[in-house]
Amino acid sequence: MTPADEQREHWSATFAAHPEMYGDEPSEAAVAAADVFAAAGVATVVELGAGEGRDTLYLARSGFHVHALDYAPEGLEAIEAKAGAAGLADRVTVEMHDVRQRLPFGDAGVDASYSHMLLCMALTTPELDRLVVELRRVVRPGGLVVYTVRTTEDAHYGAGVAHGDDMYEHGGFVVHFFDRALIDRLAAGFTLVDVTAFTEGDLPRRLARVTMRRT
Ligand SMILES: C[S@@+](CC[C@H](N)C(=O)[O-])C[C@H]1O[C@@H](n2cnc3c(N)ncnc32)[C@H](O)[C@@H]1O
Repeated sequence: MTPADEQREHWSATFAAHPEMYGDEPSEAAVAAADVFAAAGVATVVELGAGEGRDTLYLARSGFHVHALDYAPEGLEAIEAKAGAAGLADRVTVEMHDVRQRLPFGDAGVDASYSHMLLCMALTTPELDRLVVELRRVVRPGGLVVYTVRTTEDAHYGAGVAHGDDMYEHGGFVVHFFDRALIDRLAAGFTLVDVTAFTEGDLPRRLARVTMRRT
């Protein structure tokens, strides 16, 4: 079993045990992304690694149609239930998908992609290269990609079990910590619009929010 497959079981078990692991308030990143998407006239957002949907629900409430992908079915079931309870079922669709596989969309059919702390999961640099090639394929010219990642400024960088490729395991979760060179590398074929540092949680996690436009 690869580290990413082991992590899938870990995420499934975590969501089964903690139905509100990240709470139900949207992240700061989702609020910022919604503003950027609204200003750009985005209608549909593909969310990668949606978890239990704190940001999915916020984006849907903000008026976007959200197609939420994750490889942990427990989180997707929670998202469907919450969207139904909030009267947002017509704006939220979910799909079980591992982002190491080809994205389930045609060429240039996606307005925007959003992901909060998905690219910094147990994905090797070659797997990240393939994922952004896929994003370049599915996002329409002029479309937007907003993603967040934990960075090498984070207190957990270098702590715990080293897995190579700047990946460290802490508390059972493997995180790939990003430096600026990796952000620049993954921007090939996009215009890098903005990189903003921010923090989240009590640690606090130190993150970068990256905005790219499909050239
Ligand atoms: C740190 S959590 C963030 C969840 C959500 N974005 C949030 O902020 O509330 C990372 C999420 O990515 C998902 N994930 C990790 N690796 C994945 C992969 N290879 N394919 C799809 N989803 C993945 C996990 O199941 C988990 O839901």
